[in-house]
Amino acid sequence: MKHATRLYLVLAIVTVIAAIAVPLTVYRSGSTALPPWAAFVRPGQLSSAHAFLEGKCESCHTPNRGIQAETCIACHVSAPQLLVKPATAFHANVEECAGCHVEHQGNSVRPTRMDHGVLEKIAARGKDHPTALDCQSCHTPRDKHQGYFGKECASCHLATSWKISGFLHPSPRSTECSQCHKPPPSHYMMHFDMMDKMITGEKEARVEQCFSCHQTDSFSNIKGVGMVKVH
Ligand code: HEC
Ligand code: HEC
Ligand code: HEC
Ligand code: HEC
Ligand code: HEC
Ligand code: HEC
Ligand code: HEC
Repeated sequence: MKHATRLYLVLAIVTVIAAIAVPLTVYRSGSTALPPWAAFVRPGQLSSAHAFLEGKCESCHTPNRGIQAETCIACHVSAPQLLVKPATAFHANVEECAGCHVEHQGNSVRPTRMDHGVLEKIAARGKDHPTALDCQSCHTPRDKHQGYFGKECASCHLATSWKISGFLHPSPRSTECSQCHKPPPSHYMMHFDMMDKMITGEKEARVEQCFSCHQTDSFSNIKGVGMVKVH
């Protein structure tokens, strides 16, 4: 490499580092005015919902303070759809937004990324002793087990995914289906004798004998019949 080339290379690298580091430092501490290099500093495009705030960085970034909940709340006071769902009802009095609401990920990404750690952090700050999150208080509607497995979701589940790695469903030859699955109310009505037993030809089957009529992939997949469209 020629001497001059090397010099230009060093200069170029220094310029790039400065262009990233200086504004980032200023922005972390908060700046009073929108500097001309703002568009360059911006870590990525805003979400489509917030695209209208392009160039109005201050609407979310408070000088010297960074991202503050009050700024978000100013525009998002009422969100009734959040309050009617147990899982998101905490929005009624949450004092932090960043962490779960990300930005600058581009306009095709929803600016929401659930992080249970933020909830734990907020709980730990409260007067009550920090306790483990009460999964059930938020997730009862998602209880796939219809109460059969109890309220301690965390004894089997992590907060990262409802899937449990390594879980393999009991064999389709199991006769214990009814220990883990509840039948729909229609199975205790005339519908069971008139329809379900007729469809399957299982005239002797009792309701608890799910295995006589059902497969393990979907309850709509009926043995010997195939997918049955349910009302
Ligand atoms: C100047 C007003 C304004 C500010 C400030 C603002 N928003 Fe928004 N936000 C909107 C509007 C308008 C929408 C689009 C309409 C809607 O969904 O309510 C939106 C949409 C959203 C959505 C839904 C996006 C989607 O499509 O899923 C979330 C989440 C959100 N904002 C969170 C925040 C958070 C967190 C902050 C603070 C960092 C914030 N907003 C700051 C006005 C604002
Ligand atoms: C612990 C994580 C968490 C915190 C903290 C949090 N949110 Fe949310 N928020 C969510 C999740 C998850 C959703 C998506 C709910 C859904 O899709 O049903 C959401 C949805 C929203 C929506 C509605 C988006 C839409 O698509 O309609 C708005 C607005 C919003 N949050 C604003 C805020 C504001 C403002 C704050 C701070 C005061 C805040 N959130 C704090 C997790 C959080
Ligand atoms: C809708 C609200 C919103 C607007 C408008 C917005 N930002 Fe942000 N920005 C955020 C949030 C929230 C974060 C926190 C990082 C994260 O969790 O995604 C952030 C993070 C950043 C960061 C990383 C450093 C830090 O403070 O964490 C920079 C730099 C930044 N924004 C620059 C800008 C610039 C420049 C603009 C204007 C062109 C802008 N932002 C407009 C919400 C916004
Ligand atoms: C204060 C309410 C709240 C509590 C407490 C809570 N969660 Fe959540 N959880 C949410 C919200 C909001 C979401 C995202 C939206 C949704 O899936 O409803 C979520 C999502 C999840 C997901 C899906 C994650 C994904 O990306 O697919 C799992 C798994 C989960 N929670 C498990 C748990 C477990 C286990 C506990 C107890 C240790 C717990 N949660 C406690 C509110 C809560
Ligand atoms: C005794 C252990 C156990 C307990 C307790 C438990 N689960 Fe599960 N759960 C499982 C197993 C095993 C699966 C199947 C996981 C798989 O397919 O990877 C599952 C699956 C799920 C799924 C569906 C995953 C999917 O996408 O198919 C949801 C949602 C769920 N559980 C919610 C809950 C909730 C909410 C609670 C607490 C009220 C809870 N679970 C308590 C063992 C448990
Ligand atoms: C005699 C055969 C038979 C037995 C035994 C039986 N089912 Fe069914 N089940 C059916 C048929 C046929 C359908 C579809 C038509 C209908 O909805 O009634 C059905 C439908 C269902 C559905 C509704 C599927 C959906 O997507 O809504 C569920 C859930 C279900 N059964 C669970 C069970 C469980 C759990 C057991 C055991 C405790 C059981 N069944 C026992 C024949 C049976
Ligand atoms: C030890 C408990 C256990 C037994 C026994 C069991 N299952 Fe399951 N089954 C689960 C769990 C956990 C899941 C995953 C969570 C969910 O989707 O309900 C599941 C899921 C299913 C699903 C998928 C449900 C859906 O909506 O996607 C079907 C269908 C099913 N089981 C049928 C059966 C049948 C038929 C039998 C008997 C041959 C049986 N299961 C025995 C625990 C059990």
